[in-house]
Amino acid sequence: MRVALLGCGTVGSEVVRLLHSQSADLAARIGAPLEIAGIAVRRIGRDRGELPVDPAVFTADPFDLVKRDDIDVVVECVGGIEPARSWLVEALRAGKSVVTANKALLAEDGGTLHDAAAQGGGDLYYEAAVAGAIPLLRPLRESLHGDRVTQVTGIVNGTTNFILSAMGATGAGFAEALAEATDLGYAEADPTADVEGFDAAAKAAILASLAFHTRVGAADVHREGITEVTAADVASAKAMGCTIKLLCIAARGTAADGGETVSVRVHPAMIPLSHPLASVGDAFNAVFVEAEAAGQLMFYGPGAGGAPTASAVLGDVVAVSRNRLAGVRAASESAYADLAVRPMGEALTRYHISLDVTDRPGVLAAVAGVFAEHGVSIATVRQGAAGSGVAGRDEDADLVIVTHVAPDAALAATVQALRGLDAVRSVASVLRVEGSA
Ligand code: NDP
Ligand code: HSE
Repeated sequence: MRVALLGCGTVGSEVVRLLHSQSADLAARIGAPLEIAGIAVRRIGRDRGELPVDPAVFTADPFDLVKRDDIDVVVECVGGIEPARSWLVEALRAGKSVVTANKALLAEDGGTLHDAAAQGGGDLYYEAAVAGAIPLLRPLRESLHGDRVTQVTGIVNGTTNFILSAMGATGAGFAEALAEATDLGYAEADPTADVEGFDAAAKAAILASLAFHTRVGAADVHREGITEVTAADVASAKAMGCTIKLLCIAARGTAADGGETVSVRVHPAMIPLSHPLASVGDAFNAVFVEAEAAGQLMFYGPGAGGAPTASAVLGDVVAVSRNRLAGVRAASESAYADLAVRPMGEALTRYHISLDVTDRPGVLAAVAGVFAEHGVSIATVRQGAAGSGVAGRDEDADLVIVTHVAPDAALAATVQALRGLDAVRSVASVLRVEGSA
């Protein structure tokens, strides 16, 4: 089996090492040896440390490499939409099998890749694109096909989990924690993709597509990142017996006309410390899959980093190589359900709202009135003095309100109305709360 590797950075270089160190076992598992026939990179002369590969296989022309007739499997570890899409479409249409870790491309235009694979007759595998080393897509794509998945909830971005864990545990600053995550090889080439939630949203789209047999793209996912989560939010969550995580939530729902829908969102949320996702620290990922017959399944493990991701990539290389030798291909994309994507405003959630208010008679009633007007029920209210710690007439006070479950649109409208209330000096923070306390 002749392999073309596109990209030899954090992930690609570990693919080379693992493929070399496991070569005898891989050959036995596949039934034929794997050989790296070419590696395309941007900078041929870059120092890549000790790599167990002939330097002559390096090229700066990925197109030329994927077009070669002697290539069976193309492994893409570059990232981005173009030119990666063009390389992979070229390879797939020519009948080669493709293994990719590129979640951004799959979420942006996975349909084009699946169509090209169907046209060329090769396989398209992408286990490494979501949750690093964790075997998650294969179970969704195969093992759970006899069941009906109702919800997928998880932590799917290692970088942001690393940052939030550091902020919570040691009080580390945001920039400091991001720099460390980047040094450890967790962050994307542009870490904005991590901290603004684009990476998690791409993974959410991939998970929802597989779980609900529907093409869900990045644009269908409601996305918020962690850049607005402050040290005060982290402290406030702690005071409530909670922690803050960047969650991905994909769920089946029902529209007003009774039709089935799917909603997909990524945003920071407070979860109780008793919640199983609360203890997922550092760059680890964890995903809950709820299915009608199976019940709750939890997948947990390293979500980022070169070696863990290379493990998932090579698992796919073994699978597609075996298929080629057997002259078969895996089942095509399953998108028959074609469910409508529900807007974020209809998602049911709870809000934790911190207000800076004037501390005088009637303020609490006015604030409560705004919630009532929007049909939002209050679960808890906590008041403390701002600054000195002693509440007093005509001084500011902090008011922390946690709601019961309500549609996101009603909750957002409540916050908007609170901003216009005389007694409210500012809305200090708004965070969603997920998981029962
Ligand atoms: P890196 O930035 O470390 O490596 C990218 C590689 O692609 C480099 O070898 C680079 O070449 C090469 N490259 C970039 N542009 C071109 C081009 N135009 N032509 C040829 N080669 C090019 O990225 P990662 O290894 O971290 O990530 C690779 C992919 O894996 C991405 O899709 C990412 O989202 C995904 N992924 C990453 C994980 C991680 O933990 N890092 C985990 C899961 C998925 P050169 O070396 O010469 O610069
Ligand atoms: N940047 C990604 C993360 C890499 O931090 O999760 C793994 O997909």
